[in-house]
Amino acid sequence: MINTQGHPGRHKEELPVGKTIAICRCWQSGKFPYCDGTHRQVNAEQGDQVGPAIITVVAAE
Ligand code: FES
Repeated sequence: MINTQGHPGRHKEELPVGKTIAICRCWQSGKFPYCDGTHRQVNAEQGDQVGPAIITVVAAE
């Protein structure tokens, strides 16, 4: 699947240390760049196995 929703290719946001987020990798989320679970439908329709990247923010060294 590709970016058929016209989401911007870059996103910048400051997040607090310790916050865990799920970043969409299927490009179809209604809450892009965050995962909203739409990948399940994409996987069923396309035969893919894509899911979000789960990231926890840590302090810079
Ligand atoms: S909605 Fe895209 S990875 Fe979950």
